[in-house]
Amino acid sequence: MTKQEQYTLAIQQIEAVIAGENDTIANMANSAAVLHQTFGFWWTGFYIVRGEELVLGPFQGPVACTRIRKGRGVCGTAWEQGRTIVVPDVHQFKGHIACSSESQSEIVVPLMADGRVTAVLDIDSRETAAFDDTDRCRLEQVAALLTR
Ligand code: SME
Repeated sequence: MTKQEQYTLAIQQIEAVIAGENDTIANMANSAAVLHQTFGFWWTGFYIVRGEELVLGPFQGPVACTRIRKGRGVCGTAWEQGRTIVVPDVHQFKGHIACSSESQSEIVVPLMADGRVTAVLDIDSRETAAFDDTDRCRLEQVAALLTR
């Protein structure tokens, strides 16, 4: 199965599990589970905007840092800039916050509501350059499902 096909199935599954449930935390939790199980990422989860910080939300994978300030790390940068950030090599990203030494590449996709970032979807891989435009486009679709 191609990555596109895997995303098509994963997104169908996410749509099915979030249909009829309007609690964002519950829907984030199941979405993280579907993505993590489908692709075998190292870490898959959400950080939620709380005031001037991002606070750890539902995730799958190893223990992670709980709070990230605006503009810090990949997550805080994606929040500040309101756009998806793909990092092919985390060691080359100035200010990267290493929650796990295993992580080699990362993608962070903001969840937007009324033009504001409400949370970010953060995914880490143990492989360098694991994320491309397909991941960006499809994960932005997932982010949109969670804020509609
Ligand atoms: N690497 C992220 C921190 C979160 S962990 O990857 C789960 C960052 O630089 O923002």
